[in-house]
Amino acid sequence: MKTLRGVQSMRRVVAGWHDLGARVALVPTMGNLHEGHASLMRLARRRADRVVASIFVNPTQFGPGEDFAAYPRTLAADRHTLRAAGVDALFVPTVRAMYPGGHDGGTLVSVPALSRQLCGVYRPVHFDGVASVVLRLLNIVAPDLAVFGEKDYQQLVLLRRMVSDLHVPVGIVAGPTVREPDGLAMSSRNGYLTAGERRIAPLLLRTLRECRMGLLAGERDFRALERRALRRLKQAGLRPEYVEIREAGTLQAPSARARRLRILAAAWLGRARLIDNIAVNLP
Ligand code: PAF
Repeated sequence: MKTLRGVQSMRRVVAGWHDLGARVALVPTMGNLHEGHASLMRLARRRADRVVASIFVNPTQFGPGEDFAAYPRTLAADRHTLRAAGVDALFVPTVRAMYPGGHDGGTLVSVPALSRQLCGVYRPVHFDGVASVVLRLLNIVAPDLAVFGEKDYQQLVLLRRMVSDLHVPVGIVAGPTVREPDGLAMSSRNGYLTAGERRIAPLLLRTLRECRMGLLAGERDFRALERRALRRLKQAGLRPEYVEIREAGTLQAPSARARRLRILAAAWLGRARLIDNIAVNLP
């Protein structure tokens, strides 16, 4: 596996592959890789001839007081994970390479229809930072497809909208959420949980599933289902930010005719902010 740090060297490697007719996939990450990331790499491997992974802890997607400085940086272990998953090249740019003019006051990309709701209410700068860094990565690597996890469902929908609005010639591929045996979605931030909190954490998924059972049993008072879920999370000791039922493709409030829904939630547990979401396909 090659490791590239510079924009030009990364571009040259991919241009060489494209000259040979190879299809190239990019899997952007912030490192501290776990099985969820490895599954995205393997998905990329199946869909493309060459796989590039990037590791970049992106400062613009962290708000003031968030965990940018504390975010775990584990490059040596990450390299092993990437090699085992069959990744061909690792792109590890510096902040200066990604934001040559500095990241304060530099060019930002915003998708307001999707960035100001759900997690965006609580993390107002987050999605502009995500869109801005992902567009930069797509411009540098120029992959044929880019792979993102469904665990960050709002991010996935927003990035699909960004590449469509800006005519970026890349296919967006979604990888399913990978879970621990007790249902907790794998996340780099699960490491912030204490042993006691770790035992409570799977309740987030259980609550989403109860909400889905309500929908599948014919309940259509979405607000009542969401309120019930919030109560349940609070009773268990979590501090929920939201539980919301949305249309799966657009994340808008569901119309009466909507059939493909998504239930999304974010809740604090100790120092960890947990997010999760599940699909609901109504008959
Ligand atoms: O999902 C993530 O890890 C990040 O938001 C991403 C897409 C790598 C952008 O920094």
